[in-house]
Amino acid sequence: MRYKIPFNKPCFVGDEIIYMKDALLNGHISGDGIYTQKCSQLLERELGVRKVLLTTSCTHALEMCALLLHMKRGDEVIVPSFTFVSTVNAFVIHGATPIFIDIRPDTLNLDESQLERKISVRTKAIVPVHYGGVGCDMDTIKRVANHHGVIVIEDNAHGLFGKYKGQYLGTFGDLATLSFHETKNFTCGEGGALLINESNYIEEAEIIREKGTDRSRFFRGQVDKYSWVSIGSSYLPSDLLAAILYAQLEKRNEIQKKRRSLWEYYFHNLQEWAENLSIKLPTVPSDCEQTYHMFYLLLPSLDMRTRLIEFLKRLGILSVFNYLPLHLSPMGKKFGGKKGDCPVTEDISDRILRLPFYNELSQSDQDFIISALFKFK
Ligand SMILES: Cc1ncc(COP(=O)(O)O)c(C=O)c1O
Repeated sequence: MRYKIPFNKPCFVGDEIIYMKDALLNGHISGDGIYTQKCSQLLERELGVRKVLLTTSCTHALEMCALLLHMKRGDEVIVPSFTFVSTVNAFVIHGATPIFIDIRPDTLNLDESQLERKISVRTKAIVPVHYGGVGCDMDTIKRVANHHGVIVIEDNAHGLFGKYKGQYLGTFGDLATLSFHETKNFTCGEGGALLINESNYIEEAEIIREKGTDRSRFFRGQVDKYSWVSIGSSYLPSDLLAAILYAQLEKRNEIQKKRRSLWEYYFHNLQEWAENLSIKLPTVPSDCEQTYHMFYLLLPSLDMRTRLIEFLKRLGILSVFNYLPLHLSPMGKKFGGKKGDCPVTEDISDRILRLPFYNELSQSDQDFIISALFKFK
């Protein structure tokens, strides 16, 4: 079905086509070409990260984390139940057991107050997700992790250029990941990145990303031939994709400014309406600079959400719900997940509704959506 207003639309804002053509003409369209380097350097410089490695997806960047941590059967990873499947699956395929933790009812981020009782001698990592690009309480998460000698891996799929207490998301964890999937603020269709804040991971990460070879060292002239030195896979995106991404990253301020104005327009115009219907709008703590990745409503009931989605659909507007609780999924249940384990997740998952949100959404589109919401009974 075609919607008058879709939920998401990939948007091209800059020199994507020019750079793609340039990459083609450069004669290097496999991984680690000029545009890959440009993207990595831009992100390293802007975020102040030791090393940025572009990957084929955020899922793959998370899998690289599992390999870097030498995950094995019996290791435990603390993950929010309210997240995309990859946050968890990336570790499970390497043998780890997910320990699901509930979320906070305000930011929908991992509830840091429950961390202490989830940690055991088997805990290898905590994986906070900055939901909607609003930062988790990294002070507490880091304090608990440091106290127990546990690694922190930020799943920052939503939060590129967001900040917590003035510091960029993705720079708190030992490792962090980004997504450039077409639903994200900056996209190349499918793509991601691994951010390395602890230098001791850099060399091994380069090897894992390059099929278990020391090809990166060879390209830097550090060895005169490259060979198979460890385990690894192929996590390099084509330089054609990096060319698209670089065009988007160059326009980062423009993109974020546009998304901020969309988010604020929804927020200001829906505030009174939401209050009257006991609908909650997103919460952004004062110490977080969010990324304006999404705009959601927390409705009072599942029934109201179902009716509202249907109502908007009839007017040609696609709104969607979000994650289903992972601890109650068929796989989650195999790990012992049961109803009541994460009550906030279970409740929020039933009541959340995301409104259309993409760079090219116009003010008249938003007016149309807002007036549709006002008509809903
Ligand atoms: C929180 C989170 N982590 C990871 C991913 C996976 O990203 P990718 O599609 O780049 O693998 C997503 C995808 O939307 C996500 O929302």
